[in-house]
Amino acid sequence: MPSQKIQERADIEIAEDITRSGTLPATFYRDPQIFEQQKEKVFAKSWQYLTDLKSVGENAIQIPMTILPDSLSEPVILSREESGDLHLLSNVCTHRGSILLEEKKHLSRISCRYHGRCFSTCGKYVSAPGFEGAHDFPSEKDDLPTLALERFDQFLFSGIYPELSFEDFIKPMLARTGFLPLADAELDSDNSREYLVNANWALYVDNYLEGLHIPFVHPALASMLDTKDYQTELFSSGNVQIGIATDGDDAFEIPESHPDSGRKIAAYYYWLFPNTMFNFYPWGISVNVIEPLAVDRTRVRFLTYVYDRSRMGSYSPESINITELEDEAVVEAVQKGVRSRLYKRGRYAPQWERGVHQFHRMLTDRL
Ligand code: FES
Ligand SMILES: [Fe+2]
Repeated sequence: MPSQKIQERADIEIAEDITRSGTLPATFYRDPQIFEQQKEKVFAKSWQYLTDLKSVGENAIQIPMTILPDSLSEPVILSREESGDLHLLSNVCTHRGSILLEEKKHLSRISCRYHGRCFSTCGKYVSAPGFEGAHDFPSEKDDLPTLALERFDQFLFSGIYPELSFEDFIKPMLARTGFLPLADAELDSDNSREYLVNANWALYVDNYLEGLHIPFVHPALASMLDTKDYQTELFSSGNVQIGIATDGDDAFEIPESHPDSGRKIAAYYYWLFPNTMFNFYPWGISVNVIEPLAVDRTRVRFLTYVYDRSRMGSYSPESINITELEDEAVVEAVQKGVRSRLYKRGRYAPQWERGVHQFHRMLTDRL
């Protein structure tokens, strides 16, 4: 029925004009097929946060990792050579597809336990027993595929088939936060944790991208932020919400040449399409990685990086936990709501939901 197809497409479209557009239709958050489509059309083409350089260490090492476990589940090896060069390699043997590495190792060769094929630590084919007589062998196809690996200061990002150049992806965030002592930041494992949320990953992102809910959902947080000065700026790879400090709150020392010079800013909340958040504070950075697990299940990883512990002040694991649980409760309530036969889609609050509108446009453009 082609006419129904066209109707469905029209339903999923997000109009450019926020004052006229409907929000993302409910089916988007509950349809397993749409969820499956996003794996290849959104996530496999995106930049994903991987780890930080300090966690990799100073020695030659090979670390097995998974890009988006439980959804893309792409097995990779982060390989640091003696020279310090870093490579992100496929962790799948080019012979018959065995996983090569199961745990961290310091290797001079990566060898496959199945039939003994060997690769260099930068992924080049070295040897394979039993292949005498094979035509056009070895060829480039026998090397391990290399994935994109890029740095934002000490923070490493990977891409399987990234559609945006890394420069375009990261430049807007770097331009505004490059003055911070990013290289000094250390991962604080005690203040890092994971949450499982019974909701679609995009509902979690929607909630992050607007401050309209803050007075209703987070009364304690609302008293600390000046919500009337709350501001969202959009750029091609995401957006930033700027938290203005109220009197007595800690604020950044912003250099004179900076676009925000003279302003009292308590936090920059960066969201990078589709599922990465970098929240910058005077004491450090909270990195949030939103991992889709199923159409109605999401894992949220909070990684806390500290560059000035003396300024952590009111930012404690308990206060983060309270805010997070308040957010999870509303997001899970929305997941139940979008299953209703009676709810189709909503409208945007134009002054408050520009970030959500941008996210929905970016998402539907790719499907
Ligand atoms: S699968 Fe690796 S050598 Fe055969
Ligand atoms: Fe919230």
